[in-house]
Amino acid sequence: MGGRTRLIVVLSMFAAVALTSKAQYVFPITKDEPTKQFYTTIDIGAAVETPVNLLLDLGTNLTWANCRKIKSLSSLRLVRCQSSTCKAIPGSGCDYSRNICLYQQPNPFGKNSSVTSRVVQDTATSSTVSFRPFIFSCAAVNKPQGLPPPVAGILGLSTGEYTFWRQVTKKFNIIPQFALCLPSSGTTGNFYIGGLSYSVPSSATVMRVSSGEYFMVVESIYVDGTPLSLNASLLNGGAKLSTVVPYTVLHTDIYNALAQAFTLKAKANGISQVPSVAPFKNCFDARAAAGKNMPVIEIGLPGNMREVRWTFHGTNTVVNINKKVICLAFTDGGMKPKENIVIGTYQLQNYYLTFDMSRTELRLSESLLFHNTSCSS
Ligand SMILES: *[C@@H]1O[C@H](CO)[C@@H](O)[C@H](O)[C@H]1NC(C)=O
Ligand SMILES: *[C@@H]1O[C@H](CO)[C@@H](O)[C@H](O)[C@H]1NC(C)=O
Ligand SMILES: *[C@@H]1O[C@H](CO)[C@@H](O)[C@H](O)[C@H]1NC(C)=O
Ligand SMILES: *[C@@H]1O[C@H](CO)[C@@H](O)[C@H](O)[C@H]1NC(C)=O
Repeated sequence: MGGRTRLIVVLSMFAAVALTSKAQYVFPITKDEPTKQFYTTIDIGAAVETPVNLLLDLGTNLTWANCRKIKSLSSLRLVRCQSSTCKAIPGSGCDYSRNICLYQQPNPFGKNSSVTSRVVQDTATSSTVSFRPFIFSCAAVNKPQGLPPPVAGILGLSTGEYTFWRQVTKKFNIIPQFALCLPSSGTTGNFYIGGLSYSVPSSATVMRVSSGEYFMVVESIYVDGTPLSLNASLLNGGAKLSTVVPYTVLHTDIYNALAQAFTLKAKANGISQVPSVAPFKNCFDARAAAGKNMPVIEIGLPGNMREVRWTFHGTNTVVNINKKVICLAFTDGGMKPKENIVIGTYQLQNYYLTFDMSRTELRLSESLLFHNTSCSS
């Protein structure tokens, strides 16, 4: 065996040992219809397990749970200030009188309120995995402002080292990636940790990480194949992905360009505009739209050598308000938003979306609905 061949064999054996990409842990995703928020359910506790509904949040670093909802605290352990865990959690503090690691849990909805919580560890269990220690923070207080009623916590899914998915990939030594398939209704989506093989075509694009959050690089936006003419500086910051924003929020200039192009194309297809229904600004006659194709919106992203287009059809671009009115399912975020584009969950529903930190890459499937399937099947 030549030196080079041997090296390759050794490297590939190492890869196989280090990352078991086949391993996959699956958690259910439920949509809370009134608030349009998505949560998963995880059992917390060793001897007595309590199922806790946790909001999926791509922007949260450390999972938070309301300890009042946990039936048995017998297996719950406090994390001490001097522990390596406490020191490794960015932003952690210390209650010196009691030697308890503290964490100021920010509000996922950006509201001006946070919850001071204790950092703890316990066992986390689902149908496909059980592990200890699961590090999270908890406080016996009412939940942060804005959480839907069935939810008693927030699942941290940011890029940080103590997010839920990182704890699982580290514990089981699997490839650092997770995937979401958000359902359009009900209790049937899935959240996957580890490798996921898609049943529908997909493309990969670069992922940018900033302040622990996930962004994609946007090259252009198209309506029925025609690019919007936008000042390129509007796209510089890319698009943030959010699992808590219900409808994609755009800088006013981007919103106006999109809405104008969309409305023109819709009218050309015989779909008339009707008075708007808040929070939406561009609405259409639902009866005129019946049976017609809505204009296709695409986001142009850097792919491998050439641009990749992430395509949105009617089910992800317009929302039914009532029997007579449908609206463009994007909102105007004003002239000075923190991010010019925040992709919300209405646009993410019924796609597989993999966050692959091993390659700093996002893998987007085509719409499952386009392939006669969905996140609910
Ligand atoms: C948050 O609200 C408090 C009280 O309403 C106010 O004093 C404080 O300045 C606010 N902080 C921010 C960052 O808006
Ligand atoms: C999450 O952690 C990152 C650093 O890893 C930090 O920049 C960011 O502000 C944190 N986010 C929140 C909401 O605390
Ligand atoms: C694009 O936007 C930047 C920043 O707002 C501005 O300085 C520039 O003049 C704009 N360019 C055009 C062609 O409008
Ligand atoms: C889609 O699914 C339905 C119901 O399962 C089936 O009747 C139909 O033939 C399928 N269409 C395509 C294009 O596969």
